[in-house]
Amino acid sequence: MSVLVTGGAGFIGSHTLISLINAGYEPIVVDNLCNSKKTSLQRVEAIVGKTIKFYENDVCDAAAMDKIFEENKDIDCVIHFAGLKAVGESVAMPIEYYNNNILSTLVLCNAMRKHNVKKIVFSSSATVYGAATEVPLTEDMPTGATNPYGKTKLFIEHILSDIFVSDNDWSIVLLRYFNPIGAHESGTIGEDPKGIPNNLMPYIAQVAVGKLEKLHVFGDDYDTPDGTGVRDYIHVVDLAEGHVKAIDWALKNKGCEAINLGTGNGVSVLELKNAFEAASGVTVPFVIDPRRPGDLGEVYADASKAKNMLGWEAKFDVKRMCEDSWRWQKNNPNGYDE
Ligand code: NAD
Ligand code: UD1
Repeated sequence: MSVLVTGGAGFIGSHTLISLINAGYEPIVVDNLCNSKKTSLQRVEAIVGKTIKFYENDVCDAAAMDKIFEENKDIDCVIHFAGLKAVGESVAMPIEYYNNNILSTLVLCNAMRKHNVKKIVFSSSATVYGAATEVPLTEDMPTGATNPYGKTKLFIEHILSDIFVSDNDWSIVLLRYFNPIGAHESGTIGEDPKGIPNNLMPYIAQVAVGKLEKLHVFGDDYDTPDGTGVRDYIHVVDLAEGHVKAIDWALKNKGCEAINLGTGNGVSVLELKNAFEAASGVTVPFVIDPRRPGDLGEVYADASKAKNMLGWEAKFDVKRMCEDSWRWQKNNPNGYDE
């Protein structure tokens, strides 16, 4: 059974290809490589010992998407990872973000409807909870978004919900990811951010490998045990397994459901830094800086809906996340650039 994976060459997509193949699904990838390299797909092929059908196309290209469905009549469902994801960049380039993320979803759904494929798993984010003040976050809490990136995720959730209202034959799973880190145990695929990383784990890893001088901790005066920001870090392989469970659900059920993918545990910036140092044996120098504008003190999931509905829960702990992130970074100090 074929699953069309948009954005499959990216960080989460590449890991999900492995989980899909291990579960007996046949992924077909469409990616325009705007934030990834073909090398990631070649490395996935080396891990699974299979070739993966790949279309180098923009999901906003309606003719290309039509052709992919035309050529692959066995596509039963879609995982839609393709999108731009940097919060700061989205503030500077809202037109590009709205255009890419929203248009790609509309073009994709139109092609799906035309070819009678009505099962989709969408990469949403905990960012849709906006400035929520209560933790843990449950799926029924109010949503809101504070930057163009987050707004695209929220709008797309609304668009997909409206598609289900218009036609109850659809199965739609809106997966709200918390903070994916870690890498495949082989150390051959992982997160490869362009330029200076915005997110904590790749920043720590690049300090550890000597590419950056020191970690800047954004604030130590939050109402948290050590004053630094608390997040729900989740191993990318656990996240990938969650997509397989979501596909399994979509194949058997109809509906439109938002589901958190997190561990349910909060970990502070300094706790993650310390765990990384223990896993790598490398000291990560740091300074305390002011808070980053827009950041919340504490964000973690109530992960019970995923457990009850999908039969999924995260398996890997923070130690393992750090070991795997470090193996990837150490073996590939320049990411996929040789
Ligand atoms: P990524 O940038 O590594 O992967 C996204 C992939 O989509 C890239 O390979 C990129 O080339 C491709 N892409 C983008 N626009 C495209 C288009 N129009 N047509 C074809 N391909 C296109 O990002 P990721 O971390 O793997 O994230 C995957 C998805 O999960 C994104 O939608 C992101 O917003 C969402 N998400 C990520 C995180 C995170 O922390 N990584 C958290 C929450 C949600
Ligand atoms: C960020 C995004 C969010 C996205 C999420 C998952 C912002 C404002 N938000 O959230 O939209 O869904 O990633 O990818 O970018 N930190 C430091 N120093 C750093 C980097 C981060 O101290 O160099 C701290 C932050 O203040 C925060 C924690 O580390 O407390 C995690 O930060 P980050 O990895 O950027 O994730 P989020 O803030 O959760």
